[in-house]
Amino acid sequence: MTDNARLAGMRLLVSAGPTFEDIDPVRFLGNRSSGKMGFALAAEAAAMGAQVTLIAGPVALPTPAGVRRIDVRRALEMRTAVLAELPGQDVFVAAAAVADYMPEHTAAQKIKKTGDTLTLVLVKTPDILAEVAGHPERPRCVVGFAAETGDLERYALGKLREKRLDMIAANDVSQPGVGFECDDNALSVFTADARQEIPFGPKSQVARALLVLVADRLDLKL
Ligand code: C5P
Repeated sequence: MTDNARLAGMRLLVSAGPTFEDIDPVRFLGNRSSGKMGFALAAEAAAMGAQVTLIAGPVALPTPAGVRRIDVRRALEMRTAVLAELPGQDVFVAAAAVADYMPEHTAAQKIKKTGDTLTLVLVKTPDILAEVAGHPERPRCVVGFAAETGDLERYALGKLREKRLDMIAANDVSQPGVGFECDDNALSVFTADARQEIPFGPKSQVARALLVLVADRLDLKL
């Protein structure tokens, strides 16, 4: 079978991009995720025959051909959209850089510049990936991403276990030209018993290689 049909008949849910957590009507907390990796995964999965739903944070990227896209802004909206789309999915790939914390309150009016300091209280966002992995409608294959700045294997395997994932794709974002805001990437992919390297290349190529590993894993779980 060529790669082009490897995901035929599969339903794939992908989260992509950053989340923006609003402080007031004009300010937010965001991050440097461009969404390119998640969009490349959605595009390549569709090209490999999957039925793809893409939950996209705020990014200015075109919708890949054949992909159903749902736009969200904040982590709580992403969670709602992911959980609503979960039933019947075979795979969930969490490529989104979800905020870990959000403001406790979003001010209804623009916050005025009064004091010399301003204290923002942040509260944890729900871990969407961990929730999906522990959900009664858990897809057969749940894949996380880990952007790290060192000690890749230790952190990646920790997340694989703690979040109860099938696979985690880790990259060292301290390396120039890799990961955030780039067109290229390189990944170390961990399962409970194996480590595989996807070499540096365009995100489309890296996405395709990761999806071949996902397809291999689905074959094992049929
Ligand atoms: O724990 P950490 O944030 O590094 O984990 C990264 C992985 O978890 C990514 O796959 C990301 O999409 C997912 N995640 C999530 N919800 C959060 C935080 C992270 O789904 N609130």
